[in-house]
Amino acid sequence: MSLMSMKPMLAVAREKQYAVGAFNAVDYLSIKAVLKAAEEIDAPVIIQTSVKTVKFWGHAPIVAWMKELAQDLPIPVALHLDHCKDVDFIQQCIDAGWTSVMIDASSLPYEQNLTVSQEVARRGAAAGVGVEAELGEIGGVEEDIAVDEAEAHLADPEKAVRFCQAMDLAVFAPAIGTAHGIYKGEPKIAFDRLEAISRRVSTPLALHGGTGLSDEVFKRCIALGCAKVNISTELKHIFIDSIADYQRQGGVYEPLKALEVQYDQIKQAMQKHMILFGSEGRASRDRQEYARFL
Ligand code: 13P
Repeated sequence: MSLMSMKPMLAVAREKQYAVGAFNAVDYLSIKAVLKAAEEIDAPVIIQTSVKTVKFWGHAPIVAWMKELAQDLPIPVALHLDHCKDVDFIQQCIDAGWTSVMIDASSLPYEQNLTVSQEVARRGAAAGVGVEAELGEIGGVEEDIAVDEAEAHLADPEKAVRFCQAMDLAVFAPAIGTAHGIYKGEPKIAFDRLEAISRRVSTPLALHGGTGLSDEVFKRCIALGCAKVNISTELKHIFIDSIADYQRQGGVYEPLKALEVQYDQIKQAMQKHMILFGSEGRASRDRQEYARFL
């Protein structure tokens, strides 16, 4: 299949109460490992790139890898730009072939966040690209956006309703107490807040800060409307640790063997998440329903 917008994938996932995994891949191999993981279990999947990753490789190689890897797969695949504050950069990604983008104007006052997010939603709609926007501030560090956990603030349900009614988002990311990176203690998830938003907002919701959450937290959030779950830090750790462990355990200086270990470990770990999120078997079962949301 060719790459597609995440909008119909997530609309169907929310209706059926499962989530599509969105994994921050960093290079050709990690993209390939995540796609293989999804293909093996017939799951729709989102490959996300950070702005840093796009700047590192350039737009064209990433789109070329994605097209080459996804075109013969029988599963729906979206290429998504994670947290981006810069509308021009978002436009460059839309022009280059990203099928979904996130505007993160959450550090701005509400009205400004709304205005910028609406502008991106308008551009996304014109290009058939799904748009994600955030309200409240998610703690931790992602994409060089550092939000002190004490300063992170939760999304206000009233504002969430107005925000989502004001534009057609593929997915809405309310801050609900999760954080990017490694949790320092037990994360305090505001399930009541999530429930209040979910009751009044029919837009699929995104769960950020997936690394380190328990199975139970994932399941509760998905039951409350989270149809997109983001995993980044865990993949990055496996990316580095797999090679370091391979070498410590007497690995020879044979890069392809080391890459094989890295590939297998990323694939297995991300596939475990996909299964937990309930997306296994959903690609062929739900694809015919996407047309309702295009
Ligand atoms: P983690 O780095 O905690 O997995 O969060 C990922 C994320 O939400 C990316 O936007």
